Amino acid sequence: MRTTLVRNITTLVTNDPDHGPSPLGLIQDAALVIEGDRIAWTGRTADAPATDDAVDAQGRTVLPGFVDSHSHLVFAGDRTQEFNARMSGQAYKAGGIRTTVAATRAASDEALGANVARYLAEALRQGTTTLETKSGYGLTVADEARALRVAAEHTDEVTYLGAHIVAPEYADDPAGYVDLVTGAMLDACAPYARWIDVFCEKGAFDGDQARAVLTAGKAKGLLPRVHANQLTYGPGVQLAVELEAASADHCTHLTDADVDALANSATVATLLPGAEFSTRAQWPDARRLLDAGVTVALSTDCNPGSSFTSSMPFCVALAVRDMKMTPDEAIWSATAGGAAALRRSDIGRLTPGARADLAFLDAPSPVHLAYRPGVPLVSEVWRAGRRV
Ligand code: NIG
Ligand code: FE
Repeated sequence: MRTTLVRNITTLVTNDPDHGPSPLGLIQDAALVIEGDRIAWTGRTADAPATDDAVDAQGRTVLPGFVDSHSHLVFAGDRTQEFNARMSGQAYKAGGIRTTVAATRAASDEALGANVARYLAEALRQGTTTLETKSGYGLTVADEARALRVAAEHTDEVTYLGAHIVAPEYADDPAGYVDLVTGAMLDACAPYARWIDVFCEKGAFDGDQARAVLTAGKAKGLLPRVHANQLTYGPGVQLAVELEAASADHCTHLTDADVDALANSATVATLLPGAEFSTRAQWPDARRLLDAGVTVALSTDCNPGSSFTSSMPFCVALAVRDMKMTPDEAIWSATAGGAAALRRSDIGRLTPGARADLAFLDAPSPVHLAYRPGVPLVSEVWRAGRRV
């Protein structure tokens, strides 16, 4: 297999604790060797082995491509009005999801696929090399299955979120909708999905309903993740831990018991600062989670309602400025943390055997992601050993 050397990297982020002291496993004046689609070696440029090809990083920073473990890209329509209203003082209401459901149902397969491709490309340009995405704007058997089929054409990390809100047709029969989500809809959707998710929240699904949804999904071989404790305190986080979910996402309103439960579990807390930014909500208490020893991931939650950003660098900057994460913590959470939230060990790190997913920054250090907010620092992206 051909080997390629990338040399003259001012700072390389490996996320390999053996390269400590920082968990980012930083190497200065670094190089790496790619063999096929994998990392074969990392070290100092001066120690680099002979390879077939060589690429000069020209003093840039290289870090693992971002792992965005939470997005909702299968949608149509626009909710600028709703955003405008919020920015004039109105509160975020999850009921806005219905606007997107109507537009998504009315869209063609081609339009939905084009939308996913567009936002995926947008994310890739900003350094995201793995992206999870969900259904949840169809809410009929056919529309949810279609959303997942479209999503699966673009990513392996596909999540069934039939339990986003109760479908409008079932407004008077939420129990009937849960039966659908755990029955015929699950049967139609499971073949396309790896994960099952539920919006456990007042106005969406309560703890018992959410447990029924996740348990049915698990029985079909889907792995659980949960939209938990976003708008209010509630049972979502504890349920995620109870069912050994890979991740509890949002975690904006947490009791001490919620934090303890996460700290004593393998469930990752995925924080989505784009949502708090775009809904003018309180920030999740990242410090409290990190200080308790919880594994924290950062993701965009990219969706047209609560967080219309595909930018992981933006989320890193918000996490540092407003959620009091250190730059190193935020960078780790946006790469290795996202990989943990997807139970993946082949991404989110640049160590021998990992997939060669690289983000090049026009900067001497990854800290510039937060130090220079809003600046398009990502100048080159490689996925599986190839420049994209
Ligand atoms: O993660 N919380 C539920 N779902 C999305 C919002 C979806 C929408 O407003 O369209 C979220 O924030
Ligand atoms: Fe979400």
